[in-house]
Amino acid sequence: MTNKPSKSQNTVWHHATVTRERHEQLNGHRGIVVWFTGLSGAGKSTIAHEVEERLHRLGCRTFVFDGDNVRHGLCSDLGFSVEDRTENIRRIGEMTKLFVGAGVIALTAFISPYRRDRERVRQLVGDKDFIEVYTRCPIEICESRDTKGLYQRARAGEIQDFTGISSPYEPPEQPELIIDTSLESLERCAERVVVLLQQRGVMITPKGN
Ligand code: ADX
Repeated sequence: MTNKPSKSQNTVWHHATVTRERHEQLNGHRGIVVWFTGLSGAGKSTIAHEVEERLHRLGCRTFVFDGDNVRHGLCSDLGFSVEDRTENIRRIGEMTKLFVGAGVIALTAFISPYRRDRERVRQLVGDKDFIEVYTRCPIEICESRDTKGLYQRARAGEIQDFTGISSPYEPPEQPELIIDTSLESLERCAERVVVLLQQRGVMITPKGN
């Protein structure tokens, strides 16, 4: 989101007749981005999927964008340099903006280590449609979990630019929510996210009423 000059010249924005408001009315809730950020192994994906489960059961339309998954396709051309991570987050930011326009609750699970990149997404999507959830967990605990075996490989020097070891992580300064997966259960973390969405008036008409 370095705002490179667009190479797409001579294009004209086409306005949909089924507007965001109409999507939201049909869905019974607003479109919004719930942006989880934190170290690898902190629990971003696990919590995002648990939140999605709960929202799905409430009748919400949701989608989880997961860092590892997206890097198999849409972002498979990107590595882990500063520039590539920035481009990764830019693409996902643009994608979530489209999903918000479709009235979907878009949950994202990306390390997104740079504050500047996350702030750009917030600006792109709009403050009222962006909830940043800092998934906090001490690196020692992430490393002891080492679910993918990547910390061990990073320590052995087999993986370069590994977040928290040889590449920085910049924690959010004013996230909408902080959950600490070393202190709180998965259920409690997911519950707190859902409650926040309810408090923010994301659900327009509770389904079943
Ligand atoms: S981000 O920094 O661009 O936001 P993203 O969330 O897409 O990262 O991908 C992180 C995932 O890629 C990690 O959970 C891990 O499984 C894997 N990975 C592979 N190499 C690295 C690395 N050098 N640093 C961090 N994560 C890595």
